Amino acid sequence: MQFFKVYLRVLRQLGPESSLAGILVLANIALAAAQFAEPILFGRIIDLLANAQTQARTLQWADLVPLVGTWVGFGLFTIGAAVLVALHADRLSHRRRLAMMAEYFEHVLHLPLGFHTSTHSGRLLKTMIDGAGNMASVWLNFFRENCASFVALFILLPLSLFVNWRLACLLMVMVIIFGAMTAFVMRRTEGLQSEVERYATDLAERASDALGNIAVIQSFTRVEAESRALRQVTTALLNAQLPVLSWWALAAVATRASATLTLVSIFILGTSLHLNGLATIGEIVTFMNFATMLIGRLEQVVGFINWIMLILPKLQDFFEVLDTRPTVEDRPGAKDVARLTGRVAFEDVTFSYDGKRPAVNDVSFEVEPGQTIALVGSTGSGKSTTLGLLHRVFDPTGGRITIDGIDLRDMTLVSLRHNIGVVFQEPMLFARSIEENLRVGKADATMAEIDVALERAQAKEFVSNQSDGLQTVVGERGRSLSGGERQRISIARALLKDPPILIFDEATSALDATTERQLQAAIEAATKGRTTFVIAHRLSTIRNADRILVFDRGAIVESGSFDELVARNGRFATLARAQFMTADTLTTKTPIAF
Ligand SMILES: Nc1ncnc2c1ncn2[C@@H]1O[C@H](COP(=O)(O)OP(=O)(O)O)[C@@H](O)[C@H]1O
Ligand SMILES: [Mg+2]
Repeated sequence: MQFFKVYLRVLRQLGPESSLAGILVLANIALAAAQFAEPILFGRIIDLLANAQTQARTLQWADLVPLVGTWVGFGLFTIGAAVLVALHADRLSHRRRLAMMAEYFEHVLHLPLGFHTSTHSGRLLKTMIDGAGNMASVWLNFFRENCASFVALFILLPLSLFVNWRLACLLMVMVIIFGAMTAFVMRRTEGLQSEVERYATDLAERASDALGNIAVIQSFTRVEAESRALRQVTTALLNAQLPVLSWWALAAVATRASATLTLVSIFILGTSLHLNGLATIGEIVTFMNFATMLIGRLEQVVGFINWIMLILPKLQDFFEVLDTRPTVEDRPGAKDVARLTGRVAFEDVTFSYDGKRPAVNDVSFEVEPGQTIALVGSTGSGKSTTLGLLHRVFDPTGGRITIDGIDLRDMTLVSLRHNIGVVFQEPMLFARSIEENLRVGKADATMAEIDVALERAQAKEFVSNQSDGLQTVVGERGRSLSGGERQRISIARALLKDPPILIFDEATSALDATTERQLQAAIEAATKGRTTFVIAHRLSTIRNADRILVFDRGAIVESGSFDELVARNGRFATLARAQFMTADTLTTKTPIAF
């Protein structure tokens, strides 16, 4: 069953600290054994007392000393083991919880953009916190109770056969009934709980989505609607949760009832065995104690299984993310390339998102180092996908891409990405200081380098006008800056990285014309001396490109310089007229400043 698989996997995550975990397991076994020995010793003492009474002789303390001494010994030993567990189980769980979070986080950061496009960040965050937190609780439970319970149930219970096999059999029957009942409820609730978890994840996703778009919600007066939608999810969640809770409540009641039945049965069977000389009074007392102890253990295990069933989907989600293998990975033997010169070649490159319709269809082109290439075409024509293939957001389904003659897949991802800088449409800044954001481009940049980058990105002036200059914190996603300012910081960031290949994917499209014009100088500075790919809609940006590639439905339908394409009066000319210029600028030969 899923339950065991996931449970064992959670325990396996203790691997890096397996020796400490092993010691704690031994301490638990000792604890369980001590708990088991106590009823036996107690029973023996009762038998001694009872025998003395029937034989009408006075019992000496000396007769009792060995038994009572052993009992005290076990007691002290129990305290020692319990202290060991109490001290280390918590620390171990907390250490491993944080380690798992770090592992998950690093793994998620490695997953390709394609994964992140289809998985909400709110969901990933919830899965990380829930998964690691619940795993820590599973470990804690394991060391504090479960391990001892399993030992009691699976090792010590069979050993009770040696004390009195008839009474032991009765106890075992009880355990089996318990087990069957729990298994039944588990099977009933497994599917139901996954549904609950789906709603819970929905909830997290919705909430974080709403918070991320708070400006839209407020300006479109959607507060009511969003709250209502969230309440609907909570209601659905509750409705899905209730049947699960009823099943487990039923299990708890049944457990209680069968516990009472067992105690009564042991007493009745014990008494009749005693009357037939098949059990001593001490044995009856021992088994009553066994039964009480086992019932405690069983109830604890049932409660634990109940709880695990509730969190099982969370743990599964966590492992599912951990198990997601990046579709783009380093090939065995992939080489670390040093700085490339930036000669890019696409050879019959085809790519499809869904395996049916190609988003990029048989695209071939070559670019000399230092050239500027503009990609134009209507939205959805495959421009971003083509450039995504260049920095390996995905791998082509057909054909190959080389830089300096080396297939991208023969270089390590890290070294490839060292060679490519991307300025995205959405500048994506961290909620950190401007300096920290710039250092994303180059961690060990000197202040002089930062200064030059800011200067060339036309960002120096506004940065020095900020309240704390470079130390100004820019808010979530850089919200405290204007769009143009954000974009200039992101250009400065790319300049600091100083890669031989630079990609501008609609870097200026979200900006107004004036801001864009101001950015032109920044972009021009950035393109100097490197191979640059620009996706833009405005004439000024593409006018001076060495070559323009015109995309339509994933394929290149025209290519050439601006003047060539205009002269051809084909697709580009039509597109140009429609998209970014008036008729007279089309015929103007004076180049517009880039
Ligand atoms: N992450 C994605 N998953 C599935 N399809 C996508 C994804 N991104 C883009 N597409 C589809 O691929 C095609 C090309 O998109 P894209 O390269 O973004 O075009 P452009 O950048 O030219 O506007 C479009 O039909 C688009 O719907
Ligand atoms: Mg695009």
